[in-house]
Amino acid sequence: MVLASARANIALVKYWGKRDLALNLPAAGSLSLTLDALRTETKVELIEGSEDRFFLDGQQQNGKAQKRVSDFVSLLRKRAGRKEAVRVDSSNNFPTAAGLASSASAFAALSVAASQAFELQLSPEELSIYARIGSGSAARSIFGGYALMSAGEKADGSDAFAKALPEIDLPLSAAICLAGEGQKHVGSTEGMERTRTTSPYYQAWIEQVHKDLAFAQEALRQKDISALAEIVEGNCLAMHANAMSARPGIIYFKAVTLWAIEQVRQMRSEGIPVFFTIDAGPHVVAFCAPEVLEKVSSRLSEHPEVSRVVTSQMGGPAQVEA
Ligand code: PMV
Repeated sequence: MVLASARANIALVKYWGKRDLALNLPAAGSLSLTLDALRTETKVELIEGSEDRFFLDGQQQNGKAQKRVSDFVSLLRKRAGRKEAVRVDSSNNFPTAAGLASSASAFAALSVAASQAFELQLSPEELSIYARIGSGSAARSIFGGYALMSAGEKADGSDAFAKALPEIDLPLSAAICLAGEGQKHVGSTEGMERTRTTSPYYQAWIEQVHKDLAFAQEALRQKDISALAEIVEGNCLAMHANAMSARPGIIYFKAVTLWAIEQVRQMRSEGIPVFFTIDAGPHVVAFCAPEVLEKVSSRLSEHPEVSRVVTSQMGGPAQVEA
């Protein structure tokens, strides 16, 4: 039995669009921060029989979820030349599929646990490639702190993996403002494909991502939070504008999302170092200097439609626990 853990990450420069659907190859790079508070623990056990079994938060999963996990485990099983079936037990300490990057920590933890269960010795780059096949953003959750994902150019995806950016020394905390706990209505793969195939602004978005990646890394190196705020908020709004301009348009925001955006900008105008980003859901993630986290979190709690605010420090890499 192997137990592994991984943490979700939130992108500062977003991944939204694939160059290959089957291998989950991104059309452009992305840049993220791994968060300590959003954690998946995954246990992989070799079992008798020929069917893989998958339990999420203690509930046995069938159908699509079971197949996705089993197909993924089969890649590692094949690579190791093994035959055994597995039982996978995974648990999240945050709402699954609510637009909070649960697939990122899930596939990062599963890559680490399953490769170890089959006695494979994989490098972090190889783990990142496998995690990416499970879910694009999972490639980044193999690493702690800041991670940079490369789109790569090769058709087989062997150059599409993330790496850590240990030289960046800017501690940031996050206040995740949960706008309800339900499941999101358009999943990220469907949303990306609809955007790629129907948005008139898709190419402009991809070109902007290339620029934002360079600008964001420079701002991080300079520890320039105001420059970073402009780049990260601009990139997030461009991603959502792109999704909204698909046909039919995809709107992840709720009224409370706009309220939270306004609060963050208001705080920044008061001199509080804070900025926002939003994934494929209604929740606003406010990144801030660690010393203002409490203040940011309590401001974002002041709306009746905010179900809770989860606070987090930066998190470490995916790892074997036992
Ligand atoms: O990993 P996926 O396929 O769920 O895609 C993640 C997409 C965003 O969270 C919206 C952006 C990102 O870079 O994480």
